Amino acid sequence: MKGVLAITSAPGKVILLGEHAVVFGQPAIAAAVNLRLHCRVATASTTTLNGAGLSPSAHPYVHHIVQACGLRENLAIDTRSEIPSGSGLGSSAAVCVALVSALVSRAHAIDPQEVAAKAYLTEAEVQGRASPTDTSVSTHGQGILVDRSEKADLLWSISRGGQQWFIHHCPMPKLSLVVGYTGVNAPTGPLVAKVKRFYDRTVFARDIVREIGQLTEEGLTRLKANDAVGLGQLMTKDHRLLAVLGVSSKELDRLVEGCLPFSYGAKLTGAGGGGSMIALTDSPDKVSEVIKRRGGIPYKVKLGEPGVRLEKE
Ligand code: MEV
Repeated sequence: MKGVLAITSAPGKVILLGEHAVVFGQPAIAAAVNLRLHCRVATASTTTLNGAGLSPSAHPYVHHIVQACGLRENLAIDTRSEIPSGSGLGSSAAVCVALVSALVSRAHAIDPQEVAAKAYLTEAEVQGRASPTDTSVSTHGQGILVDRSEKADLLWSISRGGQQWFIHHCPMPKLSLVVGYTGVNAPTGPLVAKVKRFYDRTVFARDIVREIGQLTEEGLTRLKANDAVGLGQLMTKDHRLLAVLGVSSKELDRLVEGCLPFSYGAKLTGAGGGGSMIALTDSPDKVSEVIKRRGGIPYKVKLGEPGVRLEKE
């Protein structure tokens, strides 16, 4: 390996309310968490990812970014992640954001809007369908509100396939949140496609998506008022609606039900089907214990983590 060109890091995320419905234009609230992905790019004699040759099937996100950037030189790309992969905590978004930032940083200072747009296009092309929630929150950090219309605190807007999302800064109050990772790796693309089929075929699914949108709007008011009780109730209701959409799993339900007696609310976070759940609680030790006892891996996360950044060597 020759000279190091750039080192970046980008955070993982949790979705507090609105996943899946956001793909259909409903609002979502997401927060960056203190689990980061680190990316190092150096000149090399062949292009590699963590020492292995780059393959479109094994490394679809990195492969797509390298192709899209039309690199004329070989690069050694190395990543180190604190975010478990396939956990619903935004590991693929963080890879896209950190790598795009490392590559663009060679030409000019990191422009969050450019990074969020490029990272989103990669996620959308690889997954088939996606909203810009994960890539935008990993870029901006802190908290975001994704909405179909422009509101105060607009950061940027992103369009694709006739849809437009407006990304806003959303201040995050100090919330005590515990993530419960099921240990089940669940790729996002097939789950988003499953909800799309249900949505296209039934008024029932379209009503549920709308209801998730309404409770997310209500959740924004609760969040701004620092009302953990109200927010928690909405999170639990959101989980039940996501379960009806078919994206929960027995592992997720088991963790959610186990945490509820000690939490304001609990729900799956991200695409579901496995991955992770979150519990909003004043008893993080107790909730972590329950998650462990029920076969999950607990993470006491901090919200409001900064977004993508260039690191020193
Ligand atoms: C995945 O973290 C969130 C989903 O809403 C998909 C997306 O927004 O692209 C399930």
